[in-house]
Amino acid sequence: MATGYFFPHRHILGIDHLSTDDIHHILTTAESFKEISSRPIKKVPTLRGSTIINLFFEPSTRTRLSFEVAAKRMSADTFNISASTSSTTKGETLIDTARNIAAMNPDTIIMRHSFSGAPHMLTRYIDAAVINAGDGTHEHPSQGLLDMMTVQEHKGRLDGLKIAIIGDILHSRVAHSDILGFTKMGSEVCVYGPSTLIPRGIDRLGATVCSSLSEVVEGADVVMTLRIQKERQNDSLFPSFREYARRFGVTSEVVALAKPDALVMHPGPINRGIELMPDVADGRRSVILDQVTNGVAVRMAMLYLVMGNT
Ligand code: CP
Repeated sequence: MATGYFFPHRHILGIDHLSTDDIHHILTTAESFKEISSRPIKKVPTLRGSTIINLFFEPSTRTRLSFEVAAKRMSADTFNISASTSSTTKGETLIDTARNIAAMNPDTIIMRHSFSGAPHMLTRYIDAAVINAGDGTHEHPSQGLLDMMTVQEHKGRLDGLKIAIIGDILHSRVAHSDILGFTKMGSEVCVYGPSTLIPRGIDRLGATVCSSLSEVVEGADVVMTLRIQKERQNDSLFPSFREYARRFGVTSEVVALAKPDALVMHPGPINRGIELMPDVADGRRSVILDQVTNGVAVRMAMLYLVMGNT
């Protein structure tokens, strides 16, 4: 990367608008922040005096908590609003909610919403930096970045790797951010799932669509399974969960087709016994909890970098 690099983005809305230099810089910054979380006193003054609002209109355990942990480890003041406790339940529009939050002069708003593009819309109404914590079926950039950090940490590189992504690609904002991110960084991304859950045109994002579980997993450096998103299945897109587990579930026999040192990943939450078998989720190749640990470091880096641009 050229010396004098300056992170050019006021908002982080997707991997799509990040360059390879941006991704390198976020991952390098995250690596430098990671050791703060293992200190006896897990706090640095970097963002002291900043106000960060978590605005979550969909459930979350990992993303919301790790953004809050990340902000607190950097001494920012954090506040949480969820859909069920906000005045949107009384009919207030998202734009009015955004304007009222903006009137309290926050520095950064972290938003999760079921509508693709909701955080992008927010940027038109408020001055604060906006970070997308997952919008509909569009993107989940912090997940994509923490996935890349985890693979880089274990493999020492991202270029030239085969990343197999299995499952519900259609509804997965994680898959979209991972496909964009890993291909930008030189990995080959191969996807497989029920044909009803593979969106038309996914190859235009850079992914190769495989026609069998063995094809997608053979020789893979990473086997990533995705959650079946029960909340986004409007139609019956596969016969049953039992049938899904039988045909698409990742078992130890499936993982044995990958490289001997392949990593098993899942963004969480896991439907154990459906898309991923418990012995694989908890097995020696699983780096699922490393993903969660790295999520804090990546989100510290994202907050730090957007705050530099507010
Ligand atoms: N991976 C992920 O986004 O998990 P949460 O829904 O718990 O935030």
